[in-house]
Amino acid sequence: MEIIIQPSPEAACRYVAGRIASLLAAKPAAVLGLATGSTPVGVYRELIHLHQQGEADFSHAAAFNLDEYLGLPPEHPASYHHFMQENLFQHVNFNPGRTFIPSGLASDVPAACADYEAKIRAYHGIDLQILGIGSDGHIGFNEPSSSLSSRTRLKTLTPRTREDNARFFSSLEEVPHHVLTMGVGTIMEAREIFLLAFGTGKADAIAATVEGPVTANVPASVLQFHQTAKIVIDEAAASKLQRTDYYRWVFDHKPDWQR
Ligand code: PGA
Repeated sequence: MEIIIQPSPEAACRYVAGRIASLLAAKPAAVLGLATGSTPVGVYRELIHLHQQGEADFSHAAAFNLDEYLGLPPEHPASYHHFMQENLFQHVNFNPGRTFIPSGLASDVPAACADYEAKIRAYHGIDLQILGIGSDGHIGFNEPSSSLSSRTRLKTLTPRTREDNARFFSSLEEVPHHVLTMGVGTIMEAREIFLLAFGTGKADAIAATVEGPVTANVPASVLQFHQTAKIVIDEAAASKLQRTDYYRWVFDHKPDWQR
């Protein structure tokens, strides 16, 4: 696990967007794993900028999103289909036939989840996955107690996540209770993972993820088992970590070939 502490969310987002652009340059048909929520918006803004500068071409890439609310149609303003259109897809040149988000309108949920897993396999897996983290330590919508080997499936949101996400809806009552989400096991198969977190509200979750035990009670802690997971955070989200001096030293003294 590599802990990368950046001076600001903007710097962190620039760093991750740069890594995505490098991947696309090296592998134009790369398969990206995308996330929603407030955290990755800066990454998408930077990717749009890079695309406009001619430095990020998505025309051969594919994208799989982590999750969607059950019951929300794609045009609902709080749906993740809508979020992705607004924040990334309509501004860059993905082939729409190669972008995938679990369907919030699936009538046969287990079949839709199995199809999603099969589609990821058909694309030979995810090269680079972006993650946010919930204040309760969730990744995707894998809430505490999620199996660490889970696959795409239905999950029930905790009251805390519904409250955290109520800002995207007109009222708390409107936030769905159920979601479709890639599983923890699905996420762990991504070849490279960047988890981003900003602000003091994420400091406890980051400390538990990085320096606590691996436990289903903090699903993100499973990233300790991932070979290339990078935790990209600002100073505030790093504020409860014990070993920040070490993490900074490691990052500042990487050999050139590792940069
Ligand atoms: P946020 O959500 O980026 O809106 O804080 C993160 C998450 O729930 O994974």
